[in-house]
Amino acid sequence: MNSSADPIDFHTAQALLAWQMELGADEAIGDAPVNRYEAPAEAPKPSLAAAPVAEAEADPVEAAKAAAEGAVSLEALAAAQAAYAHCDLKQGARNFVFADGNPEARLLILGEAPGREEDIEGRPFVGNAGQLLDRMFAAIGLSRTAHHPDEAVYITNVMPWRPPQNRDPEPAEIAMMLPFVTRHVELVNPDVIVLMGNTSCAAALGKRGIMRLRGQWTEAFGKPAMPMTHPAYLLRNTAAKREAWADLLEVRARLKGQA
Ligand code: URA
Repeated sequence: MNSSADPIDFHTAQALLAWQMELGADEAIGDAPVNRYEAPAEAPKPSLAAAPVAEAEADPVEAAKAAAEGAVSLEALAAAQAAYAHCDLKQGARNFVFADGNPEARLLILGEAPGREEDIEGRPFVGNAGQLLDRMFAAIGLSRTAHHPDEAVYITNVMPWRPPQNRDPEPAEIAMMLPFVTRHVELVNPDVIVLMGNTSCAAALGKRGIMRLRGQWTEAFGKPAMPMTHPAYLLRNTAAKREAWADLLEVRARLKGQA
């Protein structure tokens, strides 16, 4: 065990715990015996007068709104979101993943959350699903490296931190990030948005059910939005690529003013 008094970081603690579990540990027992008959020290009584103020200050969604609405540029928004301390996912993530692509792009793609590769690299959509996403948009003449706004995409996610084991973000976590996503879209001001997958629809539309929503124009953050099946889903269900192609053609037509 770590006998020094130095605090250990999250990843070291997680590795130590995994190692102990591998050795067969299935119970946590403290070094010092505990006398459970001893009367507990009296806990300080909370001050009733101070409670409402403290609660308001600690409301994660209000704190997110205050931080996001004060950001006047993408750089300021990234700094404010990276500094936001109420989302527990931040503790387990290696990197803050803000965005990639051209902020002048007419198309904004809103993904779900970073996975392992994105967490390591600090950029959205760089793993297998990201490579498929790049190929999908290249097929309609768009890329994250293009300079011209008509040919470019800008990519961000609802969550900037990787959830453990790539689990779905919880509604409370999405609610905390929504003010940042809203401000992000305002600052980029795209003409069209693609909502990639259920988490994006949950954040932007307040509803899930991507198989029902996909392919139908809707409105998100005051912009025309196309929900699409996530490339990670397409990797597992290749038959769904045909519908995704139809959705991409809709997006292309809308960008060209024909849909
Ligand atoms: N899936 C997402 O939705 N976003 C990423 O950045 C990577 C995978």
